[in-house]
Amino acid sequence: MKLKDLILPAFVLPVLLSCGGGQASVAPDAGPADAASAVYDNIMTRRSVRKYKPQPVERAKMDTIIECGINAPNGQNRQSYQVRVVDNPDFINGLTDVYLDCNPGMKSDTTFKNMFRNAPTVVFIAGDSTYDMAPIDCGLLGGNMVLSAWSMGIGSCCLGSPVRFMQENPEARRYLEQLDFGEGYTLLYAIGFGYPDETPVAKPRRTDMVRYVD
Ligand SMILES: Cc1cc2nc3c(=O)[nH]c(=O)nc-3n(C[C@H](O)[C@H](O)[C@H](O)COP(=O)(O)O)c2cc1C
Repeated sequence: MKLKDLILPAFVLPVLLSCGGGQASVAPDAGPADAASAVYDNIMTRRSVRKYKPQPVERAKMDTIIECGINAPNGQNRQSYQVRVVDNPDFINGLTDVYLDCNPGMKSDTTFKNMFRNAPTVVFIAGDSTYDMAPIDCGLLGGNMVLSAWSMGIGSCCLGSPVRFMQENPEARRYLEQLDFGEGYTLLYAIGFGYPDETPVAKPRRTDMVRYVD
């Protein structure tokens, strides 16, 4: 049995069946084989996108993406995350100005639009710092989100560096505060979303990191 045969039915098939809406969505009467291959294709064709068309993702579509995210498996069903969706250019561009002040070299990059790998919609994900499984919950939440987005033709990129910047730079602090995460929640990462304006190729994966134990 291949690894994908184990992983797909358990985690990803429900995402696409409940949330799929676009290019790789599953028709209601599709048989199991069709559904499985749609899920497989969706996973295998997703890539991190860093060039987007200017328009933010419609909020109705973001609602579906978030719905898929919060339906991910999570420890003890504690749902140990808080999520903030930002599509306000004032926030994204204002924070990017702070970033550019600290990284002036980026100004010469003609493809640079903002510090979130140019995404017009950014989702910030914070975890409950009192729960040791919260980073896993947050990761699974994001995994569902990027895959459901991709099934609707929406690209994404998980982002750690901009979050580090927000946490470490005093000038960025007020943007972090604007996200208004609750007491005890720590921002872990962000995910940029938007309509892709590039088609990145797949990066090779290390299959040698996985083995069966007999
Ligand atoms: C936790 C996490 C943090 C990441 N941070 C960044 C980042 O700061 N900037 C960036 O361009 N990509 C970031 N990525 C995207 C990865 O570089 C990308 O997923 C990886 O290279 C594999 O490429 P693929 O997503 O196209 O398959 C991050 C991904 C993850 C899961």
